[in-house]
Amino acid sequence: MSKKKQDETAEAPTPLPKRQQIVLSGTKPTGENLHLGNYFGALRQFVSLQDEHDTALYFVADYHSMTSVRNGAERRRNSLAVALDYLGAGLDPERAILFRQSDLPEVTELTWILTSITPMGMLERAHAYKAAQDKGEDVDHGLFTYPVLMAADILLYGSHLVPVGRDQKQHIEMARDMAQRFNRLYDCEALVLPDPYILEDTATVPGTDGQKMSKSYGNTISMFAAKGKVKKAVMGIVTDSTPVDAPKDTSQALFQLWSLFATQAERDEMFARARAGGLGYGDVKKDLLARLMDYFEPMRERRAHFEQKPDEVEAILRDGAERARALATPVLEACREAAGLGPLRG
Ligand code: ADP
Ligand code: TRP
Repeated sequence: MSKKKQDETAEAPTPLPKRQQIVLSGTKPTGENLHLGNYFGALRQFVSLQDEHDTALYFVADYHSMTSVRNGAERRRNSLAVALDYLGAGLDPERAILFRQSDLPEVTELTWILTSITPMGMLERAHAYKAAQDKGEDVDHGLFTYPVLMAADILLYGSHLVPVGRDQKQHIEMARDMAQRFNRLYDCEALVLPDPYILEDTATVPGTDGQKMSKSYGNTISMFAAKGKVKKAVMGIVTDSTPVDAPKDTSQALFQLWSLFATQAERDEMFARARAGGLGYGDVKKDLLARLMDYFEPMRERRAHFEQKPDEVEAILRDGAERARALATPVLEACREAAGLGPLRG
């Protein structure tokens, strides 16, 4: 039977059991404090997935930050800050592999391998590049090729699931396309096709002005900032001008943000009170602030603990890099072999 015929009759591969699926995600060290959008949209899922899967990798995307941060000392400081945010939020080096992207320069080799099979048109459609172009910014090649480096991050470790907020979905679809192209062009199965992992409820957390919370819009509420700063942001959440006695519109950002810290029963009760009238926005804001500070307190303490021990953090990242390399080496080897790179054979 010809190979093609065999493929057609072969049964579809059984999907891997959930525990064995490899989880991976990364965060760019740009120097901003993590905000509620980052936490509920992405980081909280990093934490829950480290328990649900045998292998979860989370890295500090320092190569990615090179398109915006142009100072080495600043990058080191920012990279430490992301590692502290990870550890503070509850990522545990015993349960997840925490590492620094640039400790595995192999990822730049895979980037080149993927670059050579990626159509220009695909990259021209990428949101980040289009947004920068629309703003008339000077776009450097790094920003243009950013999705290829991100695809290499994902594919190098054979990742199946990538937890992110909705704005990153396009990048993961591009990684999937690149893996498929590579496997097809070189007639191999070296690369795993990844899926995004996005929770519907928190896919887009609103900011203090009701738009998507984002550091680029200046509408963030930070999870680790000093209480005074957090209070200012919470008190500044924009609401409509409905009088206290009147029924309130619960689709406003204030109620959506408050709901992040409430149980379903509390939420139902609060929304019923809001619709009945007689609820003041100021009281909801005060309650939100109290809940928020309580919620993040244990994380602040854990972060402060590691902040005193930068050497321990460095050791965690180095150990993580070794463990990540054990996953990366066979994948890169399979790509090199399929592409005819490396030693001459027979
Ligand atoms: P920002 O938009 O503030 O620049 P980043 O691009 O650094 O945030 O995002 C880091 C992670 O947090 C990504 O996975 C992203 O999808 C997620 N994220 C950021 N903002 C939000 C939001 N408002 N709601 C849900 N997820 C978000
Ligand atoms: N681009 C992501 C962001 O801006 C960060 C990132 C880099 C990433 N490489 C990744 C996320 C690989 C998931 C997988 O948030």
